[in-house]
Amino acid sequence: MTLYDLAKPLLFRLPPETAHTAVHTGLRGLQATPLADRLESHYQVTDDRLQTEAFGQQFPNPVGVAAGFDKNAEISGALQSLGFGFVEVGGVTAEPQEGNSRPRMFRLPDDEALINRMGLNNDGADVVGRRLLRTDVNVPVGVNIAKTEHVAPADAPADYRRTYERVAEGADFFVVNVSCPNSQGFEELQNRDSMAAIFETLTDVGASPLLVKLSPDLPEPAVEDALNIVSEFDLDGVVATNTTTERPASLRSPNRTEEGGLSGKPIEGEATEMVRFVAERTDVPVVGVGGVSTAEGAYRKIRAGASLVQLYTGLVYRGPSISQEINRGLLELLEQDGFDSVDEAVGADL
Ligand SMILES: Cc1cc2nc3c(=O)[nH]c(=O)nc-3n(C[C@H](O)[C@H](O)[C@H](O)COP(=O)(O)O)c2cc1C
Repeated sequence: MTLYDLAKPLLFRLPPETAHTAVHTGLRGLQATPLADRLESHYQVTDDRLQTEAFGQQFPNPVGVAAGFDKNAEISGALQSLGFGFVEVGGVTAEPQEGNSRPRMFRLPDDEALINRMGLNNDGADVVGRRLLRTDVNVPVGVNIAKTEHVAPADAPADYRRTYERVAEGADFFVVNVSCPNSQGFEELQNRDSMAAIFETLTDVGASPLLVKLSPDLPEPAVEDALNIVSEFDLDGVVATNTTTERPASLRSPNRTEEGGLSGKPIEGEATEMVRFVAERTDVPVVGVGGVSTAEGAYRKIRAGASLVQLYTGLVYRGPSISQEINRGLLELLEQDGFDSVDEAVGADL
């Protein structure tokens, strides 16, 4: 019985966004207190076999927090204390945004899933950029950069550049989010010409390391187009995947009919297949995300070609010890299969 076993039923009685805010407030409060150090020594799994290097950054372990959990770069220190090896903050837009009206986040408890249509609510690049400069963490922190809602797709390159310039100094890597299903105009951003214009603008201003985050709903030819962009603009990595607007027939929870992006267990297999598809076609590191909640699931993505994994929904359902459990489990799985490090297992199934 863990503390989260006790807290979860109480949190799950609250509306999901209220529960998220409560957890967020708690995590923010404990940062820079002696408790944070104690949590870190409890949750962190320190082992050379878990350390990895990707796009010029050193990661103490391959398990990170996906975009959306720390939208405004307020709790990266606390997430490090929970043992995560990296954090992707954001999505951040050039201007502050309210996002969609509430409720906009829904639990699907029978499916270990969430549906969200947050709509990229965030404090804006100026505020987040300043906060990042004050952030004192030892793990890599990336920023997920998204298009401002009211900006037309044709003006997206300048909009992404504005955001990049405001957060550049405080971040270790940059993820261009062209795959948010909950904000206007995003479908158009994933076509070849739009992506080329965005990445040309960002590479011209020296954005690096630069990654692109893809939707699991892209048809294969569109993924291939995106991978051509990766090589044409010498990008540093691919994040696969974002949430899906698809609704697998297996979903049982009443909230399955809500509009928005589905995340968690039901997208695990598809996200892993997308990791494999991308890893088979590119040499850059792939960050595998979608339904990761166990060591076995993380390991499947690693063997399918992910150099790193990330999660959001797993943290909601499994609680704060999830990175510790995954990292400990990964060490056992590596040993079982005779690998000396996570790096050795990356792409073992390709
Ligand atoms: C409430 C919520 C908000 C999210 N916000 C963002 C975002 O701002 N930018 C982004 O690229 N992905 C966002 N995501 C997607 C996650 O980063 C991740 O790609 C997706 O949830 C799949 O991972 P998971 O199954 O581990 O949750 C969000 C997900 C959730 C559940």
